[in-house]
Amino acid sequence: MPDYPEIPRHIAIIMDGNGRWAKERGLPRLQGHRAGAESVREVMEACIELGVEYLTLYAFSSENWNRPATEVSALMNLLDRFLDEKAKDLDRQNVRLLAIGQLDRLPAKTRALIERIQARTAGHTAMTLVLALSYGSREEIVTAARTLASDAVAGKISPSQIDNEVFASRLQTAGIPDPDLLVRTSGEMRISNFLLWQISYAEIVIVKKFWPDFRQGDLFEAVTEYKRRHRRFGAL
Ligand code: IPE
Ligand code: IPE
Ligand code: MG
Repeated sequence: MPDYPEIPRHIAIIMDGNGRWAKERGLPRLQGHRAGAESVREVMEACIELGVEYLTLYAFSSENWNRPATEVSALMNLLDRFLDEKAKDLDRQNVRLLAIGQLDRLPAKTRALIERIQARTAGHTAMTLVLALSYGSREEIVTAARTLASDAVAGKISPSQIDNEVFASRLQTAGIPDPDLLVRTSGEMRISNFLLWQISYAEIVIVKKFWPDFRQGDLFEAVTEYKRRHRRFGAL
């Protein structure tokens, strides 16, 4: 039986249900996004406590640009505020920040903030927080294919050299182990263009609660569920 660690090395979360959480309370959707920031704080603490090495959070998808402009700009403002407030915590918690996605589509101010925090936390070793922002897995895969095709045309690589490992090294997650555990909140049973390549063998846990209701205990429960699973990777 393949070996695997008790605690997932890498947890990826599709943080869904902020809007419905707000609607249930008769509040504007933005209040749901705001409340979701507290869940992020709790989940980060829980992951550090457990010794999780990588936590990837799906914060904004490439398809989320299709939402009304007012919601998009509110989300960007919230993201700026979150990053600004988080910078100190990341130092205190010894957490490294990485961002994946089409970052050039983000407002220049947000991009600059991300770059600054990434540089400042580059040496931190307790955990890596990967924020998926303006992220779309198909775009990521197509970009990897395009760079490999250019390299092949330029004679830098031969098509026969392209294998899983080489391909993965061209994704934005290069150097990051694949997620062991994928959590999605709000009960939706879909992937929504998130880490399609990387979740090939991830264990999936769907939680009914909306993201703003997701607490440390829910993360611990998801990890307990993960530990009950038998990962086989196609073998016996
Ligand atoms: C998740 O909550 C946050 C983002 C996608 C930015 P939603 O905004 O998708 O909330 P629901 O799914 O409409 O309730
Ligand atoms: C997925 O949630 C994206 C994020 C959580 C950032 P969505 O709410 O955008 O996904 P769909 O539309 O329900 O598939
Ligand atoms: Mg949603």
